[in-house]
Amino acid sequence: MSVTAGGKATARAHANIALVKYWGKRAGAGNVPAAPSLSMTLDALVTETTVELGDGATDEVELDGVAAGPDAVTRVGRVLGELRARAGSTSTRMACVKSRNFFPTASGLASSASAYAALVTAAAAAYGVELSPEDASRLARKGSASAARSIHGGWVLLPGGDEAGPDPAAEPLAPPDALDVAMVVAITDPGPKKVSSRDGMTLTAETSPYYQPWLATARADAAAARAALAARELPRLGELMEQSCLAMHASALAARPGVIYLRGVTLDGFLLVRELRRGGRSCWFTADAGPHVKALCARADAAQVAAALGALPGVTRTLVSAPGGKAHLV
Ligand code: PMV
Repeated sequence: MSVTAGGKATARAHANIALVKYWGKRAGAGNVPAAPSLSMTLDALVTETTVELGDGATDEVELDGVAAGPDAVTRVGRVLGELRARAGSTSTRMACVKSRNFFPTASGLASSASAYAALVTAAAAAYGVELSPEDASRLARKGSASAARSIHGGWVLLPGGDEAGPDPAAEPLAPPDALDVAMVVAITDPGPKKVSSRDGMTLTAETSPYYQPWLATARADAAAARAALAARELPRLGELMEQSCLAMHASALAARPGVIYLRGVTLDGFLLVRELRRGGRSCWFTADAGPHVKALCARADAAQVAAALGALPGVTRTLVSAPGGKAHLV
């Protein structure tokens, strides 16, 4: 990452979707996942963040033109504080952070991964701190664990659990063009306000009888997915993606009370993706801490898969994204 000290920098980062998901944090500080995860960075979903050092008494944070709430300001401040500590006496100035999501309007997609990856990249440059991609990933992880993966483009592994070491960084496994694929995102009606991923995974870890079995399968799925990616075996990777998604949601559903992100339309989408596959299309489903359906497809099949998902009652729109690149200064 090049550094342009001067107190102001702008960076872009892309969202990512985990094929093999993490769900739950390792005990202790540092926001380290309890299991490894493997993701694809998405070209079509971008956050752009500008960080400018100023003479204010506190950090200021603006998200899509609106002042951020206290929780977001605290989390952003933690990342900025760490960079100020690294900058030492060269900068103790507070920062003004302005972040914009170039996501389809009202898509209802989570943006914390691209947001923290863009923040770390821009803020390091504004404070004149030279960060290796590993250090940028570690710092992004402290804001949001999935953000550690958005520092890199293409196919990315974030280690987790006891074997991940004290302060894990995400590792790029393969460039964006390693597989000729696209991710179809079928956006559903927003419905009632969702439980945040942080709260949902904490409740699952504390109360679900399926949490420990989930961790065991997650580790095995991540290793198998890594091997499938190395062998460029899309069908095997897709199969592991579905398995990981269903196991993660099973652990969440069994929490007490159950954490329910899936809606009727999500399950209809899953079944439709399987039906399309039986009809010869290369496509596999997943869903995160929300009701939207995502389908990993052979690029040649993406338009038909998007059209079929788009025709499902309850799907408001679809978007198709190629694998994307790494976080960068602009
Ligand atoms: O790290 P967060 O708070 O963005 O949570 C990510 C949770 C999942 O998207 C469900 C799984 C994952 O590995 O991205």
